[in-house]
Amino acid sequence: MKLNEALQIHLPSVDREIVNIVKHDPDVSRSSVVAEAITSLIVSGGKRLRPLMVIVGSRFGPSPDKKKIWRLAAAAEFIHAASLIHDDMLDDSPLRRGRPATHTQTGIYPAVHIGSYMSARVVELIAEYSADRKRYAFDLSSVATSKLCLGEYQQLKHAYDYDLTLEQYLEKSRNKTSLLMAACLRIGAQAAGADEAVAGKLYEFGDKLGLSFQIRDDLLDFTGTKEQLGKPAGSDLHSGQVTLPVLFALEDAELAPRIRRIGPSTPQSEVEGVIAAIKSSGSLERAEAYSVRLLEEARQIAAGLESFEAQRDLFTLLDYFGCRSR
Ligand code: IPE
Ligand code: IPE
Ligand code: MG
Ligand code: MG
Repeated sequence: MKLNEALQIHLPSVDREIVNIVKHDPDVSRSSVVAEAITSLIVSGGKRLRPLMVIVGSRFGPSPDKKKIWRLAAAAEFIHAASLIHDDMLDDSPLRRGRPATHTQTGIYPAVHIGSYMSARVVELIAEYSADRKRYAFDLSSVATSKLCLGEYQQLKHAYDYDLTLEQYLEKSRNKTSLLMAACLRIGAQAAGADEAVAGKLYEFGDKLGLSFQIRDDLLDFTGTKEQLGKPAGSDLHSGQVTLPVLFALEDAELAPRIRRIGPSTPQSEVEGVIAAIKSSGSLERAEAYSVRLLEEARQIAAGLESFEAQRDLFTLLDYFGCRSR
């Protein structure tokens, strides 16, 4: 069963809400490069995890205002999509969801602007909710977005940095992935008038879930196929991403010098040899165990929310994240 079905969320309605942001943009005509590039990325697929999380979060509040919640859900996907546009340029990744990435279609400069426009548009779109006493929407449009940029910058700064520490890896991963997911669950809850303590628990849950998600994504770069990934496997290592399996592999005295030799101009065949060695070093299993531990911690947080019917949605998310392969 698909995640949205298990959560009983009608995905085409979520998609319509997202596409409406572009359609009803008063400043950008539908035939412009900007609108076309955004629409093409939105319709190219994606799991819509962040909108689903906003909606799940709203189930923990007494007064879910559907219009407001769905608009926030669409805004969350918009922020995510913008980050993908920027991420693919920073990672020099020509494919996204199996199709040419936005910058491959439009060129770098338009793509930079399109990504920035999308993030800025969200600020405008949800400004009306930011006036609320708790300013929760502000958290999504501003805090999560700035952390995302920070995470991407940290990633860029540490390309081919084989002295990256575990703490630096975790901080970068939280900034670029988990804090947005955490914010999605929390704003959904806050927008539905949930208790602040409950919204806080959902944030912690989303943070753990998101970190585990990024670790699994990093693992998929070693284990996935081109079809699953929508881009060639092994791209992360070649482009200098020191991910958790690589960090663990660097502890192996024989393997470490081979990894450290990888740079931007290392031939693909050499990178493939190192990937094979990392795979048989036990590092993937260690990274997997790390991500399972995070899921367990998230499960414990969810267990504390037993007075809510929506607790089962958190378990559904956990099950999905635990056996995900894109
Ligand atoms: C990809 O996110 C980027 C990461 C945070 C790892 P998703 O896996 O949610 O991407 P889509 O939206 O489903 O394509
Ligand atoms: C997640 O990092 C990127 C964002 C949060 C935008 P990755 O670089 O690992 O994501 P993929 O693998 O390109 O989807
Ligand atoms: Mg990337
Ligand atoms: Mg990745």
